[in-house]
Amino acid sequence: MKIAIGNDHIGIELKQVIIDELIKRNIEVIDCGTDNADRTDYPIFAEKVANLVSSGAVEKGIIMCGTGVGISIAANKVNGIRCVCCSESYSAMLSRQHNNTNMLALGSRVVGKEVARMIVNAWLDAVYEGDRHQRRIDLISEIETKQKRKI
Ligand code: RB5
Repeated sequence: MKIAIGNDHIGIELKQVIIDELIKRNIEVIDCGTDNADRTDYPIFAEKVANLVSSGAVEKGIIMCGTGVGISIAANKVNGIRCVCCSESYSAMLSRQHNNTNMLALGSRVVGKEVARMIVNAWLDAVYEGDRHQRRIDLISEIETKQKRKI
């Protein structure tokens, strides 16, 4: 499996923890930056990772900023992205099982390293259940289609 990672200058603290966890699981990591603590803007990295997920170049994306909120909002603007911002593992698991999330956002200032690891593993271990949930995901896709028609 290939996973793309992206973060702003605040998210950088958590990045190596997540990369190490993914490598332990034999996952190939594509690091979309940022690579240093210079102040930058989270939408840049949200878009880079989301485009890789949306195009099918990678299976999933994990993104980090201070709260995970801004970067998840930005990622969810890209067609086909269902990004969950999580600070506990129950929602991470359910977001895969019911919502088939393809991106996970974490807040570097919200979760500690161990909780972040638990969230990532819960998210990766959970399997999409399909069935009635697919109808709802199709309705989400319809919203995207209707929005595109407005442009
Ligand atoms: C950057 O200061 C901060 O706003 C960003 O990391 C993130 O928390 C936004 O949602």
